[in-house]
Amino acid sequence: MSKLYSKNDQRIKHQPAGQQEEMRYEKIHNVVFDDAQAASLAVAHEIADLITLKQSEGLPCVLGLATGSSPIKVYKELVRLHKEEGLSFKNVITFNLDEYYPMSKQDPQSYWHFMHKHLFDHIDINPANIHIPNGEIPKEQVREYCNQYEDKIQKAGGIDFQLLGIGRTGHIGFNEPGSNINSATRMVTLNKVTKTDAAETFGGYKNVPQKAITMGVGTVLSARRIVLLAWGINKAEIIEKTIEGDISTHIPATFLQEHNNTTFVIDQTAASNLTRFKTPWLVSDYDFKKNYDEITRAVVWLCDRLKKPILGLREEDYLENGLGNLLVEKSAYDMNIKIFNRIQRTITGWPGGKPNADDQYRPERELPHKKRVIIFSPHPDDDVISMGGTFDRLVEQGHEVHIAYQTSGSTAVADTEALRFVEVAHDMLLGKTDVSHLEEVIKILRNKKAGDKETLDVWKLKGNIRRHECYGATRYYNVPDENLHFLNLPFYETQAVEKQPIGEADIKIIEELIRRVKPHQIYAAGDLADPHGTHKVALDGIFAALERLKHEEYMKDCWVWLYRGAWHEWDIHEMEMVVPMTRDQVLRKRQAIFFHQSQKDGAMYMGSDMREFWQRAEERNADTAKRFRELGFAQYEAMEAFRRYFF
Ligand code: F6R
Repeated sequence: MSKLYSKNDQRIKHQPAGQQEEMRYEKIHNVVFDDAQAASLAVAHEIADLITLKQSEGLPCVLGLATGSSPIKVYKELVRLHKEEGLSFKNVITFNLDEYYPMSKQDPQSYWHFMHKHLFDHIDINPANIHIPNGEIPKEQVREYCNQYEDKIQKAGGIDFQLLGIGRTGHIGFNEPGSNINSATRMVTLNKVTKTDAAETFGGYKNVPQKAITMGVGTVLSARRIVLLAWGINKAEIIEKTIEGDISTHIPATFLQEHNNTTFVIDQTAASNLTRFKTPWLVSDYDFKKNYDEITRAVVWLCDRLKKPILGLREEDYLENGLGNLLVEKSAYDMNIKIFNRIQRTITGWPGGKPNADDQYRPERELPHKKRVIIFSPHPDDDVISMGGTFDRLVEQGHEVHIAYQTSGSTAVADTEALRFVEVAHDMLLGKTDVSHLEEVIKILRNKKAGDKETLDVWKLKGNIRRHECYGATRYYNVPDENLHFLNLPFYETQAVEKQPIGEADIKIIEELIRRVKPHQIYAAGDLADPHGTHKVALDGIFAALERLKHEEYMKDCWVWLYRGAWHEWDIHEMEMVVPMTRDQVLRKRQAIFFHQSQKDGAMYMGSDMREFWQRAEERNADTAKRFRELGFAQYEAMEAFRRYFF
């Protein structure tokens, strides 16, 4: 089991010099784990060790606790340690960081509810030792209540171990930008970005409370040990700013640079913007080991930095920017040409392969001319949002294109949208047949509150709305209806926002479809930044099915291409097939996205970005084209990009 060691720990101080050199941009001690699971176990074990140590000394152990998605696995492990390994919480006193305001304890969105669900209901803590800011306090008593909260922390002896997450604004607790380093527990107003991030759990932005009660930055900093958790690509930017940037009230988490016993525990993706990972050649004598993905990354970075096209880079540009190692065996001239050609060859207007053309340097094979293709779309609109232009070309170039919609997408249809459809059906049928069932559904929808579990009827209705939006878009692209496959994978069909992990039943359904179609090409969403994780689970299902099928004869002729969902694009060095689009194709793609009407105008799960999906798609595809142009390639209107996956 990996352990975390604080800055004060001898083992950290005695790190090999090379590692310290690599970290010279970093102002906060951090440990990077392969994934959130391994990291969470290590953190849970540090907490467990502390509890046991304090027990052996006959002392209470005071924990400061956080909510949100980041600490869930830590709590899960603590519960396991209690149930299976006898870890007792009898000597534990807890203080939670924050609570929304106003907020009833019983509300499923409350942090009170969260903490009991994930931890307190499953351990032997004395309920009197649990402290969570109370969102039910009358407004005029809040100030006094907050002072008392601080007093209670003091009386308990101060916080021994403070667990933190970090918001994309750089908030810790709900200390939003502008918070003071000395701030104490108080009522605050939530930042717009924070509310956008919380919109998913609250079933829409407008339902997120305006305010919260939070421990202050000063309260957090007075803890004797602090561990901050961050997972995933959405945290990469703020982690980099917090660890490498200057201390600033605009990013309250940077105040942690002042604390002498803080560790950030992060996974590889959250760490990916740190200088030592993003541009490792800037921190050490970096050996590229002839890895051309890495070399391309470095050359593209150099072009971005110097605002030059690839063929315009000179020897001194490489030498003066830490990339001298690239010129040991090649001149700058040869290196430029090598990388230029490598990128140039990713561009093709023939995503299914070009008939009667030499395919040696093309991303796709020429044969067979007519390929069978499956586009896997995690939600009902990812196919057109993320690869609409390529989809359009594949059909137009005569390939047999199937689309597999992995989930119903019911979660993302607003009640008001569903109501509109039942009311239309009701008005049509009134006087012709019995409409009492429709009237019941109308009543349910009118009286529903945010967070109420969906009835099966409404869930199905919402799925149906999205299914017919799919027909609209695919008919527009001239795909026969029988090539649409609505998989309704069981992991998603929970009638709630929370989903199951991928299971046998899901994998079987995907496997069955691949067996039936015997595709030459599979397109799948390789986007792991989807805010509610559906893309990741959907992809896990495809990977598991491919693993099972890989020995089948027909699979030897099947290539898998990963596109990215609505949130991020591949970096240029990761792209292995890039499909340019004309202005007309961009407009056709927009039209196809428009068929997904339930997802227009403030759809429920916009994630952290308030632009509509068609806008994001257009801006992202135009941006890729712009980046190619800046690197010295031909000017296109827009481009979609793919990376090959080998199974
Ligand atoms: C929660 C809290 C917040 C969260 C932060 C990250 O008690 O105080 O600061 O830690 O918003 O949330 P997640 O972990 O959901 O990304």
